[in-house]
Amino acid sequence: MSDLLKITIDNITVEVPAGTTILNAARQIGGEVAPPAMCYYSKLADSGGKCRTCLVEVSKGSEKDPRPMPKLVASCRTTVMDGMEVKNITSPKVIDARNGVVEFLLINHPLDCPVCDQAGECDLQDLGYNHGKEGTRYEFKRRTFHKVDLGDYIQLHMTRCIMCFRCVFVADQLTEKREHGILDRGDHAQIATLIEKNLHNDFIGNVIDVCPVGALTDKTFRFKNRVWFTKPVDAHRNCSNPKCCGEAQLWMRGDEVFRVTARKDEWGEVKEASNGKTGWICNTCRFETKKAIDWTIEGPSVVNRHSVISQGHYVGVIKPTETFNAVMKGRDPKLLMDIHDESEVNKPNIDLSVLDRPAHSTDFN
Ligand code: SF4
Ligand code: FES
Repeated sequence: MSDLLKITIDNITVEVPAGTTILNAARQIGGEVAPPAMCYYSKLADSGGKCRTCLVEVSKGSEKDPRPMPKLVASCRTTVMDGMEVKNITSPKVIDARNGVVEFLLINHPLDCPVCDQAGECDLQDLGYNHGKEGTRYEFKRRTFHKVDLGDYIQLHMTRCIMCFRCVFVADQLTEKREHGILDRGDHAQIATLIEKNLHNDFIGNVIDVCPVGALTDKTFRFKNRVWFTKPVDAHRNCSNPKCCGEAQLWMRGDEVFRVTARKDEWGEVKEASNGKTGWICNTCRFETKKAIDWTIEGPSVVNRHSVISQGHYVGVIKPTETFNAVMKGRDPKLLMDIHDESEVNKPNIDLSVLDRPAHSTDFN
């Protein structure tokens, strides 16, 4: 008997080892089927279970006990059972709940994207774009905080924080001594250092990369540029810190390095480095080696073509090279519809997406 468990998410079946969470099973399928995650971070132990953006509907508990789960569950904290059936984007209940979670996350979050350094790479901005409403029903005073300098390199905008705990886990798990944490409870809860303190540790800069919003920003980059005007390149250096992977992304304009960050994977998490280390980088690489000659540049980073960061980086016309089959790892897409089955706008023998010329009236019915 195979040790793998079968799970069907949005009508697509995958097999995963016991102990895998629904979220990670969905990430194996990829694309829209993977629920958004604002607090879970696979490289940080115990993360997840705080934000509820990853809620899914379990319509069949398992082969042995097929009863559906009575409430939506956090997919980052719920493990797969054999024969489980889950709905994410195919569940109107989930979409409705996710819209509610986004509204809740935005209760206190200021809409200052036009001046926020995280704009263009903010998970909450993407989530708000996909699930947000144009207005708010909240009538009370929003909580506000003064900006706090956490040392020479990091600034905290508590007003933007969504209490995901990721930065606390980074300090706990990557640095020798955690100097900040969550103070108070409920709507008084805040990220703070109690007595104002600088965060010193060598690896503390990684809190900037894990923060899903613009609450923790890089003081050496603040207001210097918009990310989409800079050009990201992959680079490495021989870093003497044994914990640092030495592989980073330089955000350049001309020859000038505006900022240095860890490299990210498709889920927005730090990527595993080629030397097998998790892609965390030390403060020296991030803040103190900001000249192109400090680095060996490998070449332009691959940027998702749907990201605002790829704007202006096209060279000629880019055509996607992946086939659906390759993207779906050999499976047939089940959530896609053939336009000819759904619409009678264009003639059945005309495939508008592959025309090598502009469409004209003879292509349509
Ligand atoms: S500061 Fe950022 S990483 Fe830390 S809890 Fe708030 S949102 Fe999360
Ligand atoms: S990602 Fe699951 S609760 Fe936040």
